[in-house]
Amino acid sequence: MNLLAPEVRANPYPYYAELRRTAPVSQVDPGGFWAVTRFDDVVAVLKNPQLFSSEGMRRVTCPPWLEDAPFAHAMIVHDPPVHGRLRALVSRAFGPTALSRMEPWVRVLAESLADRLVAGQTVDLIEAFTRPLPSGVMRELLGLDVSLQPFFARWADDLTSTSSVAPGDTERMEQIRSTVRVARGHLSQVLADRRRAPGEDMVSELLSARVDGQALTDEELLSFLFMLLIAGMETTIHLLNHAVRLLMERPDVLGRARADRSVLPKLVEEVLRYEPPVHGLMRISKEETELGGVRLPAGSWMLVLLASASRDEARFPGADQFDLDRPGPQNMPFGHGIHFCLGASLARLEARLGLEALLSRFSSILPRGPVAWNLSLSVRGPRVLPVELVPG
Ligand code: HEM
Repeated sequence: MNLLAPEVRANPYPYYAELRRTAPVSQVDPGGFWAVTRFDDVVAVLKNPQLFSSEGMRRVTCPPWLEDAPFAHAMIVHDPPVHGRLRALVSRAFGPTALSRMEPWVRVLAESLADRLVAGQTVDLIEAFTRPLPSGVMRELLGLDVSLQPFFARWADDLTSTSSVAPGDTERMEQIRSTVRVARGHLSQVLADRRRAPGEDMVSELLSARVDGQALTDEELLSFLFMLLIAGMETTIHLLNHAVRLLMERPDVLGRARADRSVLPKLVEEVLRYEPPVHGLMRISKEETELGGVRLPAGSWMLVLLASASRDEARFPGADQFDLDRPGPQNMPFGHGIHFCLGASLARLEARLGLEALLSRFSSILPRGPVAWNLSLSVRGPRVLPVELVPG
């Protein structure tokens, strides 16, 4: 099975179901990854970083041709004990206090973007709303200049495509290296500015954070900022896209959400389960082991399919139905164990406020063109989202 084949990409869920039923741990294309598809096996892999290492994430994000790989010191590619130290240093920046400080300005941003949307004609909602919201949040959090925001999409595209560059494609490699240099320059400037004049912002807090008297090194800080830019943007864009697509397909759900905004947190949870932005996580097995009745040699490349786990009937009765009243929260879309997403609450907040802003201005959203899916084993979402907004 090729997970990037167009028919699978368009709707991977029947294929995941087939794997869960007949070959729950089995090799797939591209790459010959061992796909892990059942909920219980996904949990077993993610809660055992000693055996299933995030070295898998490192190898896809830090290829040898990318000197100064931006994610080399990011917690997402590290196992214990390095991971624990990095996480302890930055986790306060995403705690409940930090989040309640963010809510008012995230709301203002969502409202002002929704005010600028034009009704009655076809617009690409990604360009007009679902990208500017998370990228505006990241720009503000990282303290980057507003003039840089239009470049974020290109940066994200380059930084997430390192694994798909063909071995001889030196031109593409140089393009990506150049993006890394440019982005690194801007992020380093932010660090230097905050060091000189600390403020009440996330970067200043990270600069002063200490664990056992130790601060983050400059390379660790830079890696963290790079990671936020990517982890916080592409994923949240697609959470918003999937939520909007669902509202277009299900007028009953749209009706309930418009009549009662208090269902929005439940809607966001069920969208996360039903159409998760992150489909696969990479791991590498450190020793020979057995999983789901299959013997895996040491060094096996694993593709942990969160999106399949979220549709596992054994865990979620009626898993293929979108059910607004399904009990939540749904945490699996944010991973499991030590690497559980640091930005889960922020993503939920952005999605809720983004949808609130849309629903308070428009009575419905109509699809205006076919969906073309992106090509990635980790994040799944549309490349463009042509819609027409109906005021009311
Ligand atoms: C809907 C949106 C999001 C989804 C679905 C999502 C999903 C995930 C998943 C599945 C992981 C686990 C990776 C692994 O185990 O290898 C993760 C990690 C992470 N996410 Fe998110 N994420 C989202 C939004 C965000 C946002 C908004 C931020 C920050 C602003 C963020 C920051 C992080 C960080 C820093 C990690 C690494 C944690 C660690 O390694 O300990 N994410 N995310």
